[in-house]
Amino acid sequence: MGKPDYELINPASGTRSALPVRSGTIGPDCLDIAGITRDQGVFTFDPAFSVTASCESKITYIDGDAGVLLYRGYPVEQLAASSSFMEVAFLLINGELPGAAELTAFRTSITRHSMINESLLRFTNGFHHNAHPMSMVSAVVASMAAFYYDSMDIYSPRHREIFSHRIIAKLPTIAAAAHKHALGQPFIYPRNDLDYCSNMLSMFFAVPCEEYQVDPVAAKALDLLFILHADHEQNASTTTVRLAGSTGTNPYAAISAGVSALWGPAHGGANEAVLNMLEEIGKAENIPKYLALVKDKGSHSKLMGFGHRVYKNFDPRAKIIREACHRLLAKLGQQDDPLFELALRLEEIALKDEYFVSRKLYPNVDFYSGLIYSALKIPRSMFTVMFAIARTVGWVAHWLEMIGDPAMRIARPRQLYTGPTQRDYVAVAQRR
Ligand code: CMC
Repeated sequence: MGKPDYELINPASGTRSALPVRSGTIGPDCLDIAGITRDQGVFTFDPAFSVTASCESKITYIDGDAGVLLYRGYPVEQLAASSSFMEVAFLLINGELPGAAELTAFRTSITRHSMINESLLRFTNGFHHNAHPMSMVSAVVASMAAFYYDSMDIYSPRHREIFSHRIIAKLPTIAAAAHKHALGQPFIYPRNDLDYCSNMLSMFFAVPCEEYQVDPVAAKALDLLFILHADHEQNASTTTVRLAGSTGTNPYAAISAGVSALWGPAHGGANEAVLNMLEEIGKAENIPKYLALVKDKGSHSKLMGFGHRVYKNFDPRAKIIREACHRLLAKLGQQDDPLFELALRLEEIALKDEYFVSRKLYPNVDFYSGLIYSALKIPRSMFTVMFAIARTVGWVAHWLEMIGDPAMRIARPRQLYTGPTQRDYVAVAQRR
């Protein structure tokens, strides 16, 4: 038997409405408010969606108080320790871990879709050399709709599969093209003999005039970061992809919208902002002054890489990345990296500060990820692009889940209107 309904009573008229309880497999129950506008003539008000479940989903579960993150039920710690990004991509998209043959077929398909149309490649060259790569990536992804008409029927499962493989495969190629354009170096084509992350490093760092050896330590570190960034349920960019996708637009347009949403410093842009912040702080003596700045609401500054809408205890991804950062810097002989030392000190001081303690603000996934990217020689402007490459898997999984749901409807929130009431038009000559 289901749980009893909640009841909403209009204090003026006494009208009663039932609010049925909807229970998931784990996590808090949700009240189904769909009937209250019909019964009571009111809407609910929840700006920034702090307490609203916008959809049903089977993909990712977060318990923000306990610091739990599950992809399709599997703890992210286990996947980070034993899995690979390609395996996680298969899991998120298909719901189950792949068998050996399925994994090989998936990897092969992704590998074979990694080239991009030469005309699309030339778009990159139209940008100014110092264009931010996120603007290039979002533009090129949106332009893909003009090239891949053969797989744009969103109601065809086969077309949806081709799109999914294409976008996951081509994102690193698009990112590498943006990187090479900024450097003024020739584009390096993808290599089918390399795994996903090794191929990405090769496209980023190889040059045509000499042999490039991928450092397996670097490829492994990148793979780990991609696993940890692959999905995070209804975050701002995923919600953007779902919202855009709910109009029936083509999936490239929806993913491009997600890339743009990710760019903001409150979301994926935080990894780039953390490094800028550490450089601005410069040395440990300046930490108290910087913390005073971020505590001052008038400054519009935040401690970048700290805080999360959902995690109120710790971000499990940050814990893994912090350890990975220690290991990687030691392996690369960069253990005395001054910015890493400054980050550790900043974390230590902030975690004892009453402002951060009382607001339950902890380091998030982006506090240390930029330091790993820096150690891998990935330029700062590319950090959010790295996040976008990984999160494309999550965006695709959510888009597929939504489009595959026969009950899908266009997403269309309501508002609390606070503008002028009705008034009559006044001709220009009569206006003050
Ligand atoms: N520095 C200083 N104060 C903060 C910070 C911060 N990083 N984060 C939150 N606060 C304050 C906030 O101003 C509020 O103060 P008060 O109660 O006095 O008004 C209080 O803490 C509670 O904030 P909140 O409601 O928990 O924050 P939110 O859910 O609206 O925003 C956030 C979450 C991630 C946007 C925010 O914490 C932030 O801007 N952090 C810095 C940017 C960042 O690191 N973003 C990456 C997020 S994780 C990866 C991803 O999602 O892409």
